[in-house]
Amino acid sequence: HGGAPAPDGTRAPDGTTPALRSDQWYRTDGLRSFSHRARTRQLGYLPEEHLGKPVIAVLNTWSDINPCHQHLRERAEAVKRGVWQAGGFPLEFPVATLSETFQKPTPMLYRNLLAMETEELLRSYPVDGAVLMGGCDKTTPALLMGAASVDLPAVFVPAGPMLRGHWRGETLGSGTDMWRYWDDKRAGLIGERELSELECGLARSPGTCMTMGTASTMTSVAEALGVTVPGAASLPAVDSGHARMAAASGIRAVGLVREEARLSRFLTREAYEDAIATVCALGGSTNAVIHLIAMAGRSGVTLTLDDFDAVARRVPVLANLRPGGAHLMEDFHYAGGLPGLLGRLGEKHLHLDRPTVAHATLREQLDGALVHDDDVIRGLDDPLAPEGGIAVLRGNLAPDGAVIKHIAAEPRLLRHTGPAVVFDDYRALQATINDPSLGITADSVLVLRGSGPLGGPGMPEYGMLPIPDHLLKEGVRDMVRLSDSRMSGTSYGACVLHIAPESHVGGPLALVRTGDLITLDVAARRLSLDVDDAELARRRAAWTPPPERYGRGYGALYQEHITQADTGCDFGFLARKGEVPEPYAG
Ligand code: FES
Ligand code: MG
Repeated sequence: HGGAPAPDGTRAPDGTTPALRSDQWYRTDGLRSFSHRARTRQLGYLPEEHLGKPVIAVLNTWSDINPCHQHLRERAEAVKRGVWQAGGFPLEFPVATLSETFQKPTPMLYRNLLAMETEELLRSYPVDGAVLMGGCDKTTPALLMGAASVDLPAVFVPAGPMLRGHWRGETLGSGTDMWRYWDDKRAGLIGERELSELECGLARSPGTCMTMGTASTMTSVAEALGVTVPGAASLPAVDSGHARMAAASGIRAVGLVREEARLSRFLTREAYEDAIATVCALGGSTNAVIHLIAMAGRSGVTLTLDDFDAVARRVPVLANLRPGGAHLMEDFHYAGGLPGLLGRLGEKHLHLDRPTVAHATLREQLDGALVHDDDVIRGLDDPLAPEGGIAVLRGNLAPDGAVIKHIAAEPRLLRHTGPAVVFDDYRALQATINDPSLGITADSVLVLRGSGPLGGPGMPEYGMLPIPDHLLKEGVRDMVRLSDSRMSGTSYGACVLHIAPESHVGGPLALVRTGDLITLDVAARRLSLDVDDAELARRRAAWTPPPERYGRGYGALYQEHITQADTGCDFGFLARKGEVPEPYAG
């Protein structure tokens, strides 16, 4: 090697095949190639260090503001080590960080922005394959949506869960126990001293939330889709095994380029169906419904809410993890992790003959997978719940659907009729929820609107509406709550979410009035407003759409193109089918 140009601009000069996409930048006989080689010398690399080697982009969502990814700056070095070892040439790209705890109004507003950044960086630079590093909630779907759209070989590296939380001899789960102790504080059961101790105990190491929240749900989805190395999703962020997994991912990325194995080989309809089954067996986050529909769309696979409901009815919940169960991700890892869980789902619930980035078939990948703790990963004959944690509801209040995670709700509420107490937006709710004149009782149905994809904007995780103080003090810990928003995967309760269409675009939720009777019937998959059609028509005639929020900028792009929850909240122009030409590199 040393820079002899490829005569036809596509083949390597020594005749090695396959030609690399990056050859277009580096190995043609034109001025541009000369310039790209000169600039790579400027970076300090010898020709023999990179020419003819697969260029692997390492997309890193590390940032000082993202506690879940604080180890990824260092961890990228392990990925690069693997890439070098396998004969590739790694280049790290910092990409947008979507920090679930800090970004307002919600990182969901920016999921599609990171997806666009991912797609366009991979397309516009000399990249043959990619390693995608993320895990905090929206980062996983964003990176995979973008990479699926450009369809290069790629491996996903989950950031990994943080270690278990501790406080006064108790094991704490992030999110879940934060909500619980905050309610205890509001109920007067704990004080400031306890609260400041809890601040130090809830999240005690780098890594993503260690309950089965959105982060672990989506990284498990990535593993189930077959685009991580086996066992990657549950590895604690600070475990030495995490660095070895990162190196192995770098090695596999180079291998995938050599095998010309693009993401589309793995991201098939069968893979997405298995991902849904995995979410159900994990009792995973309702956010997965939106993300998987969007991700599948980028792979040319149409998933609907009905696909989720159908899978959820047949797949039992096997993972005994908070918030639905008892344990945390560290326990899940020691119990056998996702390979253990997928092994138990087996032939009955999965498509075992599809390929993964690591094995010719999922069957081969799961061969020898063991479960070491039958309480953490249940057997099919001893599930945590007989059917999946997610149900899809329809009715005159949600013509395009809504979802509920019923294993996280008090069973008495799963069939309930009660009078609505309506809040027009989250600020109104915060200002008045404890107002005694509202007359809220344990049987009331709390309704929040103005919190959907456009109304929120970005469907903030407001869906676990707070229970009024006076009811908390009486010991009420769950109520029927409805909204067009989402709910954190670490939250719980009888919360009906993602009501579509949202109120902001004139969905029936916009027409509900305080005092109307609402019926939730999960077994019948029904959510209905007991108001007759003539009255609803009168209310609709009097309804005026809210003014547009954004006059310019990303928000304006968002409000113009965002789709509703039932179709995945992608941008229409990103989700649709269509050709994108390769850039001309010469
Ligand atoms: Fe990052 Fe929960 S806040 S994973
Ligand atoms: Mg979350």
